[in-house]
Amino acid sequence: MNQHHQHDVLVIGSGAAGLTLALTLPSHLRIAVISKGDLANGSTYWAQGGVAAVLDDTDTVESHVADTLVAGAGLCREDAVRFTVEHSREAIQWLIDQGVPFTREDKTSREDGGFEYHLTREGGHSHRRIIHAADATGAAIFNTLLERARQRPNIELMEQRVAIDLITEPKLGLPGKRCLGAYVLNRATDEVDTFSARFTVLASGGAAKVYLYTSNPDGACGDGIAMAWRAGCRVGNLEFNQFHPTCLYHPQAKSFLITEALRGEGALLKLPNGERFMPRFDKRAELAPRDIVARAIDHEMKRLGIDCVYLDISHKPADFVKAHFPTVYERCLSFGIDITREPIPVVPAAHYTCGGVLVDQHGRTDVPGLYAIGETSFTGLHGANRMASNSLLECFVYGRSAAADIVEQLPQVAMPGPLPSWDASQVTDSDEDVIIAHNWDELRRFMWDYVGIVRTNKRLLRAHHRARLLLSEIDEFYSNYKVSRDLIELRNLALVAQLMIHSAMRRHESRGLHYSLDYPQQLPEARDTILDPSIDSLETDDD
Ligand code: FAD
Ligand code: SIN
Repeated sequence: MNQHHQHDVLVIGSGAAGLTLALTLPSHLRIAVISKGDLANGSTYWAQGGVAAVLDDTDTVESHVADTLVAGAGLCREDAVRFTVEHSREAIQWLIDQGVPFTREDKTSREDGGFEYHLTREGGHSHRRIIHAADATGAAIFNTLLERARQRPNIELMEQRVAIDLITEPKLGLPGKRCLGAYVLNRATDEVDTFSARFTVLASGGAAKVYLYTSNPDGACGDGIAMAWRAGCRVGNLEFNQFHPTCLYHPQAKSFLITEALRGEGALLKLPNGERFMPRFDKRAELAPRDIVARAIDHEMKRLGIDCVYLDISHKPADFVKAHFPTVYERCLSFGIDITREPIPVVPAAHYTCGGVLVDQHGRTDVPGLYAIGETSFTGLHGANRMASNSLLECFVYGRSAAADIVEQLPQVAMPGPLPSWDASQVTDSDEDVIIAHNWDELRRFMWDYVGIVRTNKRLLRAHHRARLLLSEIDEFYSNYKVSRDLIELRNLALVAQLMIHSAMRRHESRGLHYSLDYPQQLPEARDTILDPSIDSLETDDD
């Protein structure tokens, strides 16, 4: 039997953004936080480097803002950058108050600023400003926030619940435009339940799984972006997919990131013959923004026909390396690589979705009652290239500001009336799951080959044709068979891939993470790519 749930706030996603919002809302509200896998299923748990913030007295808001604007290649919204950075110190204080065990500064070797926590450095930052918990910051933050949420009787944490689609007034044929909740697959019962809520929040992470090689966990399928688009929200700047320069290259290592903080602490990128190559590409060398480092690695790999490059920190004292990077040290050692003695084989992999659902400073989307926060959203903070460790910061700052806005709206918003159940009367059990598996592989491979670090018009058009074909096949499958997590994710991935391809086709320049051999120049004016479901079809002239 499918169930009906009612909450004041439905939060889709249990990562940094969703948990921050839930914990910031007052304790008299009934809140559901759902996750499609276990609660640690998102990217948050895997974050290594840390959180960027203006914390010590020698750093300034102006400097953090300026670095973010430079990394964003002219496309950041300055008001969003300023808003985020100005709220960075209080967001970190909130995390410290929750009990996050950030690494403390060794007072005998304090490097600058007089701040009691250790601050590291990453690409694009002109100052040491990354607060961290060794090299497992995400796990430390997630475990602390989860523990806090478990202590709050008003927060219901629900695992193995996959949101399929948002319920809106227009979809039900009702007057108005509000979001009223969501249909959610309960993986324990295999039934689709109805969640009604006064406010619904998409905190569902990014879409890097659209690529064959990624640093992200399996769930990063852009579900929030796809659901928002289908509900009538505009999306922005989806052509800007960030590739992290250094993921471990090893046949048994799936998606293991080698944190940028290694380069921040002196690690060097080298070719197989031991030659350092980054100074040839940028005067900031290994600490240039990520787009530059990833493109340089891609260039050298293609030029020399090599499978990987090497990241070397073995010149630093072994005790220092083990103390600062215990997770990376242990994980590499488990694959037979001792990073205190030898270089680490690395390759770039899809890491972060800079674009997303268009929101304002409170995380409000185009649909009343619907918010988007964290990686799923497009706030304007990251521009054409996110600066390292600014994304967790965005989750905390916007999670808190969305919560404040919900509190302000509460008195005007009643609980929705009874909502219809999910209609599964027309579908049967699938007997051809091979189609899902095949389309997953095909989609992720052509996105890697055609919509990767370097793009051309021809490759984008090819990708568009394949995505269109896949979308129609998947839609047919979706109309005829019972939903499963794999099918829901594939449907969303294919839609988000098509939105990414369209955004890339519209940008006739190279800027930040979008590099086109057909348009190598940057245009004088920086413009966002905004797609609007009420205006933009996902067809091209030659369809
Ligand atoms: P996530 O943490 O990804 O959580 C998404 C949640 O949504 C999950 O609970 C998932 O189950 C749920 N969900 C998704 N779809 C559905 C659905 N359909 N139904 C129900 N639930 C759903 N950033 C930094 O700032 N600093 C770092 O050091 C850093 N290191 C990183 C290292 C790695 C390996 C990775 C992958 C990312 C890193 N990032 C870092 C990026 C950062 O971790 C993410 O951008 C951030 O954690 C995203 O948080 P989120 O709350 O938006 O989403
Ligand atoms: C890393 O630790 O290199 C990841 C940091 C980030 O993605 O912001």
